[in-house]
Amino acid sequence: MKSRVLLVDDEESFVDTLAERLRNRDFDVATALRGEEALEKIKEYNFDVAIIDALMPGLGGIETLKEVKRLKPLTEVIMLTGHATVETAIEGMKLGAYDYLMKPCEIDTLVEKIKKAYARKAEHEENIEKAKMQVQVIEVGKLASMGELAAGVAHEVNNPVAIMMEEAGWIEDLLEEESQKGENLDEIKRALKQIKAQGERCKQITHKLLSFARKTHSQLSDLQLNELIEEVVGLSQRTARYSNVRIETELDSNIPPITASPSEVQQVLLNLINNAIDAVGKDGGKIKVSTRMDNDDVVIDVSDTGCGIPESHIQRIFDPFFTTKPVGHGTGLGLSICYGIVDRMGGKIAVRSSVEKGTTFSVRLPIQPNDKEINDIQR
Ligand SMILES: Nc1ncnc2c1ncn2[C@@H]1O[C@H](COP(=O)(O)OP(=O)(O)OP(=O)(O)O)[C@@H](O)[C@H]1O
Ligand SMILES: [Mg+2]
Repeated sequence: MKSRVLLVDDEESFVDTLAERLRNRDFDVATALRGEEALEKIKEYNFDVAIIDALMPGLGGIETLKEVKRLKPLTEVIMLTGHATVETAIEGMKLGAYDYLMKPCEIDTLVEKIKKAYARKAEHEENIEKAKMQVQVIEVGKLASMGELAAGVAHEVNNPVAIMMEEAGWIEDLLEEESQKGENLDEIKRALKQIKAQGERCKQITHKLLSFARKTHSQLSDLQLNELIEEVVGLSQRTARYSNVRIETELDSNIPPITASPSEVQQVLLNLINNAIDAVGKDGGKIKVSTRMDNDDVVIDVSDTGCGIPESHIQRIFDPFFTTKPVGHGTGLGLSICYGIVDRMGGKIAVRSSVEKGTTFSVRLPIQPNDKEINDIQR
């Protein structure tokens, strides 16, 4: 994109010639003959660089500069001065002008300064963007203890729920044998069906909770991560297409095999990809799964161009049961399961997100599992 420049000077012929010469150098140039006029334009458009004459009737150069900086702090200003106004130029620099230039000015020097000012503006914008994309690495202790509690509850609830479902099934069988038609028979059958359906839901939740905190049938093997990713992405492609989402991969072919449980890594990937699909929503968008080496770790990034996560939620997304999805659509256990698995593998999971722009989850895994993982497996 062309840099947008606003040229402010009360000498009309000077402004017109300079504007034309800058346009020839591929700048997008607007002009103003008065400070007041410049401010109107500044309010209306986003200029990258404003070039302001230090000495103008009406609103002077310094006042114009101050207002420009107040209205659009990111717009860079270059002051134009004659010999008599060098002092003003220096004052301007103190007030935030990027640079100044003596009249009559060399076009090449001016172009050079505009380019530098533009680069500085771009850098500022980038820094602001980075600051908005908050990096969040997860607090370990709190989640681990929450996980234990959740798993404890799940374990305790599992058996009673299973017994209740068995009993409901038993009543159903008994009713089948009773041939007489009671008035309430249909209603009793409906109620039993409901008990079984809700019991099934409880079971799914307790199973998810247990896999958050404890290892379930995991077997370590030499895992070719890229192959597994292609497989999982293949599986998700259909759901993604349904939601008008494209999933692409960018896999580093130098990744060595890692020692890990394929079903667990698969579970992590599926949870992250499903979340990304939900975040992108029906309007369509892009998901990218990439791998890279970082020191001795393998890093998997799952990025989406979805709704992003507001700052007020980011601390909570790994908590069991935290969900923003409607009842019946999310249990809020996906990320806590991912967290549990990655933590046991001696890895880390981090998130960067920007509202309305997208989210990246980064899973960092060691090539060799740590002792905790091996002990867990042997237990
Ligand atoms: N890629 C993402 N973009 C935006 N928000 C996300 C993303 N991933 C997770 N979230 C937010 O974090 C919440 C928790 O995610 P988590 O996977 O733990 O549960 P869930 O997806 O709501 O339910 P479940 O995974 O059990 O179906 C989500 O409800 C959502 O608000
Ligand atoms: Mg989820």
